[in-house]
Amino acid sequence: MSQGWLAAFPEDEAADAATRAPHVWSVALATDETNASSHALLSADERERASRFQLPLHRARFVAARAYLRRLLAIYLGGVDPATIVLRVGDHGKPAIAAPATSLRFNLSHAGDHLLVALSHGAELGVDVERLDRPLDLPALAARVMTQAEHAEWTALPRDDQHAAFIRCWVRKEACLKATGEGIAGGLNRWNVGCGVQARDGPYRRFADGIALWDAPPLVGAAAALAVSGGGLAPRWMRWMR
Ligand SMILES: CC(C)(COP(=O)(O)OP(=O)(O)OC[C@H]1O[C@@H](n2cnc3c(N)ncnc32)[C@H](O)[C@@H]1OP(=O)(O)O)[C@@H](O)C(=O)NCCC(=O)NCCS
Repeated sequence: MSQGWLAAFPEDEAADAATRAPHVWSVALATDETNASSHALLSADERERASRFQLPLHRARFVAARAYLRRLLAIYLGGVDPATIVLRVGDHGKPAIAAPATSLRFNLSHAGDHLLVALSHGAELGVDVERLDRPLDLPALAARVMTQAEHAEWTALPRDDQHAAFIRCWVRKEACLKATGEGIAGGLNRWNVGCGVQARDGPYRRFADGIALWDAPPLVGAAAALAVSGGGLAPRWMRWMR
């Protein structure tokens, strides 16, 4: 990773800048955000999905996440009305922009009150965030999803470090699978992403099929990664300031 999160909102340069480097926005979802203005930005499909959440907190986060996603897309699409953006879903669930016609690609991930939205003109991307305190059945899960090399690296770690190391490994794998659009069905142990802490600047790893993998700068209580097809420039990591 090459920089921390920037506390900035360069709206005027956003549409242009994402043609050069992917942008990743980190948004803290407040739970009081299921207000009328956020709800009004959602499509009929999204409202229907929102209505299916049993817990008000989960519903509120979904509505807020979709509203932020639409606000961000609208900026990068040059100031269109966020409510008019038409999203479609690919075979394995990856969302994309159906209208207006655009080269803009995006992906999103949410965990607790963390929302990450990644955007790029032209390059497919995948982003994943997970909470570090997520309870996991660790030895069994690690044996199932890690490659042999990752598993050997992981079991050699002190027990106190294993939980965070597993989450680091997991978000890297999910980011790759979300960049290709396969999702978890693509096979978590197909990607050998390691579980160590990144020790240098630049992408954490580059794969033969052209995907570059980046660890996100530190987040409070969570870990995240970004995968970008075609490699390219270092991402810009930005915090949405209310
Ligand atoms: C859907 C999936 C791609 C990621 O799920 P997840 O990590 O639970 O959730 P995230 O918040 O990171 O991502 C969800 C978003 O990914 C997007 N997405 C869904 N399918 C996708 C795909 N095939 N490719 C790329 N993006 C996809 C959607 O936009 C979705 O957002 P939405 O719910 O607002 O529509 C899938 O791989 C999955 O179910 N993973 C299992 C997660 C799990 O078990 N984690 C526990 C171990 S720590």
